[in-house]
Amino acid sequence: MPGSGETCGGAGARRTRQWRNGSGRGPVGSAAVTEIDPIAETIHSLLRLAPGSSPSHRALHAKGIVASGHFTASGELSGLTTAEHLRDGTVEALVRFSHPGGDPRVSDAIPSGRGLAVKLTTPAGSHQLVAVSSPSFLVRDGQAFVELILARAPDPETGEVDPAKIVAFLEQHPEAVPAIEYAMTAPVPMSYGELTYNGLHTFFFVDDDGARTPFRYRFAPTIEVAEVEDEELSPDHLATDLGTRLADGPLDFTLLVVLGEDGDELDDPTAIWSPRPAINAGTLTLTAVVPDAEPVIFDPNNVVPGIEVSADPILAIRKAVYGLSYAERTR
Ligand code: HEM
Repeated sequence: MPGSGETCGGAGARRTRQWRNGSGRGPVGSAAVTEIDPIAETIHSLLRLAPGSSPSHRALHAKGIVASGHFTASGELSGLTTAEHLRDGTVEALVRFSHPGGDPRVSDAIPSGRGLAVKLTTPAGSHQLVAVSSPSFLVRDGQAFVELILARAPDPETGEVDPAKIVAFLEQHPEAVPAIEYAMTAPVPMSYGELTYNGLHTFFFVDDDGARTPFRYRFAPTIEVAEVEDEELSPDHLATDLGTRLADGPLDFTLLVVLGEDGDELDDPTAIWSPRPAINAGTLTLTAVVPDAEPVIFDPNNVVPGIEVSADPILAIRKAVYGLSYAERTR
């Protein structure tokens, strides 16, 4: 598991190249969003048909727990971005940990990856970072996501998933293999605090001169948690663990950033970048569990000046589908 030990400083030494967004899509162009709306509608409708889905909850990542805290910049990104909260100081943070499925009643004892969504309230606006414990995403675009949902849908007569459909999907989409393998082997975490959460998409830092540097981020844990036997786990053990832990003191994650290199895929969240030294961007400190009362949306397209999204089609489809899911659950 990548940990905070991989950090290194010296961001300034790396800002030698300028990158251009070849496809020309800035922070989510409206044309792109219009074009993908029908697929987003299809995805959202299919997700809502899944067993256990509830219209008053998220279409995915339905079960979660919210905590508040703050983020303190390390200062190591100062030369790379004009985003003030990544250069210096401390800003308020709201986070939500989640199980990725669409059933809000799913047991925490079911093995699976997990999600971490973070909202940083900065003077320049809300900067949202959304990440999962998987090392890569399943597909490269919305159409392939539709194909995946259909391949995984239980047969209406038997109620069983047809393995042949999954095999056929993987033959067409070998890029999904690492994420599927992770999903099939992910252990039951003992604590949300023990996992690494990967942002998967590429973003760009924009510096004082307008130079753009591609990057990816991840939240690395600062604690290790001993495993216990499955039978000791309650269906809500992760929420209980977080509550107990934060009652005892703060819980930290390190925000790590890696910079793009020549040849890296910039618009493909299924592509795993080669290992490289990471920059310690700062520390996310959680201090209290808070009620999941206020309708809140976490969308990684919500960035602030000094950060730009890439032309990754999955980022664009997420914006549309998250909007539909939010509209449904807050209706
Ligand atoms: C085709 C691609 C994807 C689709 C259709 C999709 C769909 C969704 C939907 C419908 C929600 C609930 C939104 C809401 O009601 O607020 C959601 C939440 C979430 N997604 Fe995705 N997602 C996609 C890709 C990803 C990727 C690549 C990541 C990780 C980098 C990710 C991580 C999360 C997390 C952590 C949440 C929970 C956010 C929260 O706590 O509010 N998703 N997703």
